[in-house]
Amino acid sequence: MDKDQVKTKIISCHNDQAEDYDERVIKDCKKPNNFIREKYFDVHKEVLRMADLKAGENLLDIGIGTGLLEEMISEEINVYGIDISEKMMEKIKQKNLKVELSKGSFNKIPYEDKRFNSIVSCFAFHHLSDKEKEDSVLEMKRVLKNKGRIVIGDFMYLNESRKKDLIEKFQHGGRADMIKEMEDENFTNIDSFRKILEESGFDVEYKQLSTISWIMKANNSRADNPSSDLKEKVYDLGYKN
Ligand SMILES: C[S@@+](CC[C@H](N)C(=O)[O-])C[C@H]1O[C@@H](n2cnc3c(N)ncnc32)[C@H](O)[C@@H]1O
Repeated sequence: MDKDQVKTKIISCHNDQAEDYDERVIKDCKKPNNFIREKYFDVHKEVLRMADLKAGENLLDIGIGTGLLEEMISEEINVYGIDISEKMMEKIKQKNLKVELSKGSFNKIPYEDKRFNSIVSCFAFHHLSDKEKEDSVLEMKRVLKNKGRIVIGDFMYLNESRKKDLIEKFQHGGRADMIKEMEDENFTNIDSFRKILEESGFDVEYKQLSTISWIMKANNSRADNPSSDLKEKVYDLGYKN
């Protein structure tokens, strides 16, 4: 499948799930050993805590889905949400939440530069290929204010060796469903993605919340000193002194 076919499949899959998405999530959260939904709402809560929002700030949620995260957000925050599935976002309209919605994706954010204090995303990043993840960093950085932050809660593993451990754990536990899940979806390799974020000028922190769910936070704290400027200064000093 090429890139566009994959995207069409993801949209159609989420359009089909939209109607009873919330009910299914709540039901699945109660099932024992459901690794996909393990600590699902704890991830939402922790993503919001790490997003460090203050009254009057602008927040963008990418892959907003049916707005489960937005049900936890104070009305004092200006919330904007984008998604590739319009059917998922239609469910938010029925909830009467204070959210401005647009169609968009990690790689095509329909907002102007430096609009947002925080960008968050829950359980959507695994739909991107490694290349799309890398490209999304620049697009998210474009719409992020200086000193802003990106907080992503999703399926991840620390590095290739820990991924092997995880696969072995699922093999020994007879969890062919989870092995298929790891083959079908693109869990984020934290070590690799951390390097991409750091090379783009972010300071990175991360934490594990469940067997497969982690949160990565990227602080745009070096935005006032982009690395290209620093390199130029080093170059100038070297030759002038
Ligand atoms: C599993 S749902 C999670 C929804 C919500 N964030 C939550 O935590 O309940 C994943 C969502 O990401 C959206 N999505 C998938 N790929 C995307 C992309 N490239 N850009 C934006 N949204 C995307 C899907 O349409 C879907 O609504």
